[in-house]
Amino acid sequence: MDDTASPDEPPLRLAAVVLAAGEGRRMHSALPKVLHSAAGRPLLAHVLATLEALATRPAPTVVVLGRGAEAVEQALAAPALTFVEQAERLGTGHALRQAEPVTAGRADAVLVLYGDVPLLTPDTLAGLIDQHASTRPAITLLSAVVPDAKRYGRLVRDAAGRVLRIVEHAEASAAERAGREINAGVYLFRDAWLWPALARLSPAPGGEWYLTDLVALALADGETVDAVVADDAREVEGVNDRADLAQAERVLRERIRGRHLLAGVSMVDPDRVWIDAGVDIGADTLLWPDSYLLGGTRVGRGCTVGPGSWVSDTVLGDGVVVRWSVLEGAEVGEGSDVGPFAHLRPGARLAAGVHIGNFGEVKNSRLGPGVQMGHFGYVGDAEVGAGANIGAGTVTCNYDGEAKHATHIGPGAFIGSDTLLVAPVRVGAAARTGAGSVVTRDVPDGATAVGVPARLLGERAGSPTAAADGTVEDPDAAPGGIDA
Ligand code: UD1
Ligand code: CA
Repeated sequence: MDDTASPDEPPLRLAAVVLAAGEGRRMHSALPKVLHSAAGRPLLAHVLATLEALATRPAPTVVVLGRGAEAVEQALAAPALTFVEQAERLGTGHALRQAEPVTAGRADAVLVLYGDVPLLTPDTLAGLIDQHASTRPAITLLSAVVPDAKRYGRLVRDAAGRVLRIVEHAEASAAERAGREINAGVYLFRDAWLWPALARLSPAPGGEWYLTDLVALALADGETVDAVVADDAREVEGVNDRADLAQAERVLRERIRGRHLLAGVSMVDPDRVWIDAGVDIGADTLLWPDSYLLGGTRVGRGCTVGPGSWVSDTVLGDGVVVRWSVLEGAEVGEGSDVGPFAHLRPGARLAAGVHIGNFGEVKNSRLGPGVQMGHFGYVGDAEVGAGANIGAGTVTCNYDGEAKHATHIGPGAFIGSDTLLVAPVRVGAAARTGAGSVVTRDVPDGATAVGVPARLLGERAGSPTAAADGTVEDPDAAPGGIDA
């Protein structure tokens, strides 16, 4: 169709309006419909991402909001967006009118989309825009031929195939309902025609102003209406209830997996891997079944994740291995391995070559290069130096019932099995603690502390550094730990 455009024709200047003020009653939710997520992103964010992916960004891009407008604005605010509010939900035609003051006269054509149609691709949209640019009619709209037209508006065409009007499901006759070509809810309007025409709409029998009535109005004006049939009908499916939402989620996830598979990520069983829209994964990474990569997670090259792992908002360096574990808001350095059955909580920052084995939990702590924590234990609010060994069952007792306190473990320290580190406390570089010791006082560099409460080997009762309770060295106490 492009060949009909004269080479001298100036490029089409485009504005966009996204309608997102509907009640979303069929969701039965306290959350505005367009904030419901699919593949880790609000529905409306998918639509806005599609607009962003266009070669030329529409300006202005206006979003019409209703119930929960503040929450939506907060979730999606971006400098390029203008938000307007539709105080009463009186239909799509009424919603578009709310955008008039900030949109009219700013571009040649206005692209109108619905915030509940998240599967539309930039390619399809670009095709529709090209078509409109070549002939510049009053309306160019997207339709689709579907097996089940559900409650969508139907395109009514005459015997010659010319579009006559769109009839909404509620008003459609039995014959019209039998139609299988639906209105996708994606339109381009000539700016100069659109705004005065909107003011001439009259409400449907139910009292709503239907945007779709503009089609018949344009034809009555002697204008042209073009309809482009989408190649893939699945792209235009709207989300009106939770079943639609689940279906949209399936389609989005399949697309996301397809993209990563083509970019060099291996999946043992792709249908059993969940990857959010915003996740990056390096090539040669292998994903085992029942693994979830969520939120802003970034996975390096050559990693192995899964089986059975939940990784959200986490950064994995190259060559990291994660098995049967939960990682949330963590950072894991190159070549580290985590699990099975480990839990890295927000603020867990592991340097390169760290080993976290079975049943280890780390929260808000920095673990230096090569730290070994091979068996069950808890490290919270701690700083652990390079190469330290955290023996099995070590617990940082960071909470005294009122406040959290920090633990410092120096580089090369050896924390014996079942050591309790009662924070705030500091274990020096290359210092050691005995198995089962309860460390309530700082341990100097290179020193060894044993017992309950722990005192330094070599300390004598009455000496200046002796424990307050006068306990003496137990000759049988010795450092110990399961070898990591
Ligand atoms: C609409 C179309 C229908 C089309 C379908 C495609 C109309 C009248 N009908 O039906 O032809 O097949 O989409 O998915 O346009 N909205 C507002 N303010 C309102 C009402 C709606 O902003 O007062 C917004 C909603 O948030 C939604 C969009 O407009 O994003 C569509 O509204 P919805 O009620 O979902 O219309 P459908 O029944 O799906
Ligand atoms: Ca809808």
